[in-house]
Amino acid sequence: MKTFQKPPGTQDVLPNTVETWQFVEKTARDLCRRFHYREIRTPMFEATELYQRGVGETTDIVEKEMYTFEDRGHRSMTLRPEGTAGVVRSYVENKLYGDPDIAKLYYIGPMFRYERAQAGRYRQFHQFGVEAIGSDDPALDAEVIALGYQFYKEVGLNGITVEINSVGTPEIRASFRTKLLNFLEPMRSSLCEDCQSRMDRNPLRVLDCKVDQPKFEGAPSILDSLDEECTDHFTQVRQSLDAMDIPYRINPRLVRGLDYYTHTAFEYKAQGIGSIDTVGGGGRYNGLVAEVGGDDRPGVGLGIGLERTLLLLENQQIQPNMDTALDVYVITLGENADRESPVIVQKLRNAGLAVDRDYQGRKMKALFKAADRTGARFTAILGDDELERGEIALKNMATGEQQHVPLSELATVVFSFITEHKKGNNQP
Ligand code: HAM
Repeated sequence: MKTFQKPPGTQDVLPNTVETWQFVEKTARDLCRRFHYREIRTPMFEATELYQRGVGETTDIVEKEMYTFEDRGHRSMTLRPEGTAGVVRSYVENKLYGDPDIAKLYYIGPMFRYERAQAGRYRQFHQFGVEAIGSDDPALDAEVIALGYQFYKEVGLNGITVEINSVGTPEIRASFRTKLLNFLEPMRSSLCEDCQSRMDRNPLRVLDCKVDQPKFEGAPSILDSLDEECTDHFTQVRQSLDAMDIPYRINPRLVRGLDYYTHTAFEYKAQGIGSIDTVGGGGRYNGLVAEVGGDDRPGVGLGIGLERTLLLLENQQIQPNMDTALDVYVITLGENADRESPVIVQKLRNAGLAVDRDYQGRKMKALFKAADRTGARFTAILGDDELERGEIALKNMATGEQQHVPLSELATVVFSFITEHKKGNNQP
């Protein structure tokens, strides 16, 4: 019989790992609540043109990584390779700019890029992203950078560094491009294939190349090309970061892989995922809202790769403490007791406890083994005799102690034990 495998570059998130995902997502949501960002959910696919216009025709993403298909209505659609363009499209379509306050939005979800799969690089991956649209205050750039930094801290990671740069305005980039090409042209034939192709498409990204890095020693810096307004914006972002005690390094060669950035660009870096050292990034995109047909509103945001976050957690041996334990495993022995099983289980679950039972008709010995395997805090055992007396035996699986409690008080007894136990754990 033919069996099936997941598509290359995708992952199954299985129980055990899924708890770490839930922890990371919960951390992100709680952080956004405190920073006052509200969740937005946009479609998993959009018109292809949105990404061509938004992300940029000459980017690697648009040129070679998009999952593009024609739908049955002959429209060209693309699985979202990133979140910003869709959020901005939604901001414009739903006229969120009508709101007197700025829009502070966040999202968590899958993105799709046809990349060469390796550890930390997938074809379906997940991002936690935020977008703040409607203000060009440099303090907002700093807030977004601080939010990402805090995220890594709160999931428990060490060794995350922040790199920042200013990529100026499109006009500044155009003149810097000429300067840079003058510098690169004489060494063209000595550069790697990737660099040579980037020189024609997007020369600023050449400086990002790891292979040819030593050759760029005397390359011009975009920071020297900034005008007064851009320099001032960058200075203020840095001042805000300093005031908040967010450590960062200025990297004048940092150029992001998406075309929409203006002014601030930043990345979060970490070691430990093979050759990949960028775990999140973002920046300001003052022209994007107008580019996708809206009023001219400035924006700033970030995207954090969740698979990379999880890989780092694993590398650093950080296991979030998620309570997945079962509270009670219910065992019934005898015909009448068996009939009562669904009622007991339902009552305990409705009271808020995590409860399970057997559905495979197992015999006594196998039932006790099953209870052990679940790691339940208690096993509740009901025989026909106990049922007649209106009692149930409750075994504390940690201590082995067993006591009989009135059936009607089962939930209360379990709850009071759990509360006591938690108190005990909290004692220094
Ligand atoms: P990006 O740098 O393309 O930016 O992606 C952000 C993060 O997503 C990366 O740093 C990485 O952690 C993760 N990521 C990207 N591609 C993959 C992949 N193939 N496999 C695993 N993880 C990946 C953006 O997407 C922008 N939308 C960020 C942004 C929001 N800028 C402003 N607002």
